[in-house]
Amino acid sequence: MRIISIETSADETAVSIVDADGAFPTARYSLLGNGLRSQIELHREYGGIFPAMAKREHAKALVPLLQHALEEASLLESSTQHISADTEEKLRALLEREPELADALIEFLSKYDLPEIGLIAVTSGPGLEPTLWVGVNFAKALALLTSSPVVPVNHMEGHILASIFDAVEDDELAPVEFPAIALLVSGGHTELVLMQDWVTYEKVGQTRDDAVGEAFDKVARLMGLPYPGGPEIGRLGAEARELNLPPFKEKLPRPMLTSGDLDFSFSGLKTAVRYAIAERTLSEDERRALSRDFEDAVTEVLLAKTTRAIDTYSARTLIVGGGVSASRRLREVFTSSYIQTHPDTTVFFPPRELSTDNSIMIALAGHARASEARTAGAISLIKADGNRSL
Ligand code: KG4
Ligand code: ZN
Repeated sequence: MRIISIETSADETAVSIVDADGAFPTARYSLLGNGLRSQIELHREYGGIFPAMAKREHAKALVPLLQHALEEASLLESSTQHISADTEEKLRALLEREPELADALIEFLSKYDLPEIGLIAVTSGPGLEPTLWVGVNFAKALALLTSSPVVPVNHMEGHILASIFDAVEDDELAPVEFPAIALLVSGGHTELVLMQDWVTYEKVGQTRDDAVGEAFDKVARLMGLPYPGGPEIGRLGAEARELNLPPFKEKLPRPMLTSGDLDFSFSGLKTAVRYAIAERTLSEDERRALSRDFEDAVTEVLLAKTTRAIDTYSARTLIVGGGVSASRRLREVFTSSYIQTHPDTTVFFPPRELSTDNSIMIALAGHARASEARTAGAISLIKADGNRSL
């Protein structure tokens, strides 16, 4: 089954073409074409995502990325017939709020034909609602043009599947032993999810305030580091470890470490950093030490709560996903500590390039939902939902 997948939930626009050979979860996946454009540079001066600009950038990027992905997949065919006035009218109505996207798509269609598609998978949430709508409406337009089913996908399910996707060895999902615990750590979410089987999800813990990635981004901003903060703090923290720098003068708290449940809180940690800095300019070594101490505090809390979840549910598998799972420190600490304390629990991290947002994971999640797609019914009912949960 040939899948086109679309991701626009935050500041990455992505379109992939993936072939799924077989049924979920034992299919073999081939990545035929992939286009990803990050808006990070544009949002830097705002220190975070600026939604109106993000929406506009998604609308600009989608058609060029689709074209790129089709070209890479050798599926870009010169057009043999023009679209009818009726189809053009329908497209313009569907993309009424994204007229520049409608223009770009109509121009594309004057040059190229769309190939046959088995399924269109699109992130419908969670995320920024205005940016999600751009992707959802684009998916509906492609569905109209190709008469393919479109299936709305949960972004967090995508992060889970990316984590168990073996892109290096055999392009398959790893055989997961259940129960499994998924630790999802991204810019918008921090969750512990229990999986008793494939595609069954129960949220058993979550943050009460900031998400981990958000804490990284805010703390980086306090330290005068560019957005997104995770990779910057990771880099400086690694330097501090290499230089063996002494601890930053203020010891950072471990919020809710012993709260006896599976919830998190990160806003206190951010406040502690604000007080520790106290409006002065940090020396380069202080920044390094503070980055390392912050990363250690976060990792310690994540490890303790995840261990509690594994023990509570006798989990045989741990799946870590979301942008913060790119953290080398997190990977090191989790891997080495579970080898010692839970040698029978298999731990999965995504390939690093699939840690942050991408559309390959959306194709995987779309395939998981493919059986629903045949009965999905009215495309007009598909909605973006910023708060969609697993
Ligand atoms: O999953 P993601 O790409 O987007 C959302 O779904 O939110 O996650 C983005 C988050 C950002 O907050 C970013 O700072 C964080 O992931 N991040 C990292 C690293 N790379 C990205 N956090 C810690 N260490 C990293 N290496
Ligand atoms: Zn994400």
